[in-house]
Amino acid sequence: MIIAAISQSQQILDNIRQFLTESDINHPFFHNSNAENPHKILTINGDIHQVPAVAEQEHPDLLLLESSVNETSELQVLGNVTARFPSLGIIMLCSIQSPERLIEAMRVGVREALPTPPSRESLLSAVERFQQRIKQASMPIGKGKVLAFVPCKGGSGATFLATNLAYILAAQENKRVALIDFNLQLGDAALFLSDSKSSISIADVTRQIHRLDGAFLASSMIHILPNLGILPAPNEPEKATEIKPEHVNPLLQVAINNYDYVILDISRRMDAVSIQALDKAHTIFPVLQQTLPFIRDAKRLITIFHSLGYRDNKLQVIVNRHDRNSEITLDDIENTLRVPVFKSIPNNFSVVDESVNHGVPVFKLAPRSPIAKALLEISGELNQSTKDQGRWLKKLFAH
Ligand SMILES: Nc1ncnc2c1ncn2[C@@H]1O[C@H](COP(=O)(O)OP(=O)(O)OP(=O)(O)O)[C@@H](O)[C@H]1O
Ligand SMILES: [Mg+2]
Repeated sequence: MIIAAISQSQQILDNIRQFLTESDINHPFFHNSNAENPHKILTINGDIHQVPAVAEQEHPDLLLLESSVNETSELQVLGNVTARFPSLGIIMLCSIQSPERLIEAMRVGVREALPTPPSRESLLSAVERFQQRIKQASMPIGKGKVLAFVPCKGGSGATFLATNLAYILAAQENKRVALIDFNLQLGDAALFLSDSKSSISIADVTRQIHRLDGAFLASSMIHILPNLGILPAPNEPEKATEIKPEHVNPLLQVAINNYDYVILDISRRMDAVSIQALDKAHTIFPVLQQTLPFIRDAKRLITIFHSLGYRDNKLQVIVNRHDRNSEITLDDIENTLRVPVFKSIPNNFSVVDESVNHGVPVFKLAPRSPIAKALLEISGELNQSTKDQGRWLKKLFAH
């Protein structure tokens, strides 16, 4: 990426160069550059009037412009440049501006305004956000796969698996992932991946379902990563009743149009809303553990799924907290349920406990742990089967 910084202050230019070149592997900005492909940083002593020449001569991807913009005519200089170079991103560094001035700046293509002098963190984060936007824009629009996780009994680990798989599909496989918490009464999915609470929830989206599009959906989510958003359950359980079965299809359709994977955390209490969601799922993962009470409830749930017309190839049973030494084996479970076990996930108390208590995904906390490896394997397989299906479809239409 070519980044040009323009300022009349040599001190600010020196700081910007230092922030952007002093590599720090902990900051995601530096993940996209390496010795063969370093970011190119240009620093130019000047003001807004240098922008047209810099854009013409250097073709930067991103311009960091430190300039007070007092006149609308000055902003017009930027407008002319962004009209000629529409992919150029501009981040302004300026002292507090009026909201009207900021809106004017956005209109001529400025993406963000940071206070000056910028701190290292604010600058790196803004540049990283821009980088992510370019990355996402270059990804083709796909038809998302809907994966639903349902606990056969309370505490099976469905939410843990749904959230952590969502994270791996986004962080490792680079997919666009939406996670929707359909535990409408007491949903807690967001807390498995972050410690931040949101006041916006699925209820706010369904209330305005006729306005719903990709941008509205994205703006209602908690973003754990730029390509991983969670639509949380309402904080107030009474709002759960506002979500009606007829909201589910439009919501999921918008999600499918805008994400590669739409992951649903479903409550084990079957009702009209969850059935609508399960109908739309490509794959349902009933999650159970290796003891009799779980197996009994799994059997009941699978009977319900069969009566809803879900074929066995839509059901992929996951045995969580698997212990090889247990009296009950995977074969016993398959024989009782009469459906194959898709995967078993090891019991990994220390890592999972720390992850859940701090809201940090296991893949981030302990990428080499047995649990992270098991989840990586599943995400790899899911991706492979999506690719295989794509190839199969292409073949079908090739003749
Ligand atoms: N593989 C695992 N190893 C160790 N502990 C686990 C594992 N999976 C889940 N747990 C623990 O089990 C707890 C319950 O998991 P989770 O909340 O995901 O269950 P659930 O199936 O979603 O239940 P609910 O019906 O409450 O929604 C988690 O908080 C976590 O501490
Ligand atoms: Mg749950």
